[in-house]
Amino acid sequence: MSQPTDQRLQDTINDYWTDRAPSYDAYQQRPERRDLDREAWGRVWASALPAAPAEVLDVGTGSGHVACLLAGLGHRVTGIDLAGGMLDLARTHAAGLDNPPRILAGDAVAPDFPAGSFDAVVGRYVMWTLRDPDAAVANWVRLLRPGGVVAMVDSTWFTDGLGSLYGDRPDAALPLADATSIEETAEAMRRGGLLDVTVSPLQEVLELDRAHGVAPGHDVQLQYVVTGRRP
Ligand SMILES: C[S@@+](CC[C@H](N)C(=O)[O-])C[C@H]1O[C@@H](n2cnc3c(N)ncnc32)[C@H](O)[C@@H]1O
Repeated sequence: MSQPTDQRLQDTINDYWTDRAPSYDAYQQRPERRDLDREAWGRVWASALPAAPAEVLDVGTGSGHVACLLAGLGHRVTGIDLAGGMLDLARTHAAGLDNPPRILAGDAVAPDFPAGSFDAVVGRYVMWTLRDPDAAVANWVRLLRPGGVVAMVDSTWFTDGLGSLYGDRPDAALPLADATSIEETAEAMRRGGLLDVTVSPLQEVLELDRAHGVAPGHDVQLQYVVTGRRP
């Protein structure tokens, strides 16, 4: 990380997600929704990614929901995160699988892998909380092989600003946190060097959220998958 302020901000983010990891994970694993989620999200990712088995990097993997699901679809998955509490849970979930994802500590903005290591870079609910989304996308492009894709799921979660979510950090330090349109995410992906950037609404996920509700303190919101390909 280039600047001390970047490091302090990232430390704050990591601490927040470590504290929140158990309740976040419990919500991800709700029994009444688990199978429905697996099917719906399986369709989302299958339509966005190359055919399995592909080499996939899941940035900001959290407790490993996406990493484990993609591994279950037959991909060879590496999930990275910087929050220790999340990494512990992701490793626990991965341990029970036949084709477990590899779970590593790593920075989504600057993942430390050789160029051309992956067929796809994915992330869910991560773009909004990156301290430098443009630099992150540029780094992901370098990690892709020819024909590789980036697929990011996100929404406009904090259109009125982050408030005190991460303490007193200014919203400006996280360029997409208070985005009012998913087009801002798409633009970051274009600026990072991706071609054919496309935004697709996730209607099936919206219907699930409407039927089952969302995490306490959150509103039901349309989510999107934003995809682009390596030049
Ligand atoms: C809202 S959670 C999403 C977790 C997971 N992708 C999911 O779909 O459930 C955001 C995650 O991004 C991680 N994160 C934020 N900034 C990161 C960074 N620079 N590098 C790695 N992980 C990061 C957090 O630690 C947290 O686990």
